Amino acid sequence: MDRIKMILDCDTGHDDAIALLLAAAHPKIDLLGITVVAGNQVLDRTLENTLNVCQHMEIDVPVYAGCGCPLVRDQVAAEDIHGKSGLDGPVFPERVREAEKEHAVHYLIRTLLASDGDITLVPTAPLTNIAMAMRLEPAIVPKIRQISLMGGAVGLGNITPAAEFNIFADPEAAHIVFTSGVPIVMMGLDLTNQVLADMEVIERMEAIGNRAGKLFGDIMRFTFNTQKLNGLSAGPVHDVTAVAYLVAPELFTTRSMHVEIDLTHGPCYGRTVCDANCRTGRKANVMAGSGVDLSGFWNLVEETLRRYR
Ligand code: BDR
Ligand code: CA
Repeated sequence: MDRIKMILDCDTGHDDAIALLLAAAHPKIDLLGITVVAGNQVLDRTLENTLNVCQHMEIDVPVYAGCGCPLVRDQVAAEDIHGKSGLDGPVFPERVREAEKEHAVHYLIRTLLASDGDITLVPTAPLTNIAMAMRLEPAIVPKIRQISLMGGAVGLGNITPAAEFNIFADPEAAHIVFTSGVPIVMMGLDLTNQVLADMEVIERMEAIGNRAGKLFGDIMRFTFNTQKLNGLSAGPVHDVTAVAYLVAPELFTTRSMHVEIDLTHGPCYGRTVCDANCRTGRKANVMAGSGVDLSGFWNLVEETLRRYR
């Protein structure tokens, strides 16, 4: 079986951490590298969180620090969701693991140029690193096999009424990526808000009895408690869907459509304007996730977490 060569671009974060657990252990994925960007928190913290997860879970994949701020706009973080550290909840042992010296953008360019066009990018964060790499070396664009990302929404946003966090945090970068011509699978809020870890799911993963199940529990119990303050009894695992789609596309339904990023500085700044009913007649550039087999999804997560010690 040919494994899917993949680079994860993340801003670790609660759901990013679980996406990382899945990407590093699923037998169909060959995780080549992890690039980190500012998003849920400042870069120092998203990097720290990524290295902590890798060290704790013995994930032996190189980690590269990338861009510390968006291309144009001021940085926005998601401290209300992910806490001061960006990954509040789990407690990690003292860190010795370090990031690589090379900048994430240079790593992306070097690796894609040297590839046979068989690498898939999975961004679960603002698209700053990917956009920067595309602008610095346009020759990488035709080398990217596919982008499976978490971001955007056909419907409403979560950080503003109109925009989803990852796109709002760097709309100009998203514009570069969405107009690049690379095939994009967009796991937006319409899909990811269907995938909620309630207490039954949390206890099921903890019952695996290994380090990965415990980490899943520590992560999602924090998210669960944050959501409880909003009157909800389950927490979304947005980013995990972008990885899960790659290994089990049969679990998802998608709709192809043209998606444009709103770059005007009004109330819709950062909105993914989705032409779901083909009003513009413009060629589809995105397959947007619309439905998911939840039982298959959680089985996939459980089976993958079981692979850890
Ligand atoms: C996205 O925003 C971040 O807070 C999450 O990690 C996810 O990538 C959801 O809107
Ligand atoms: Ca994220």
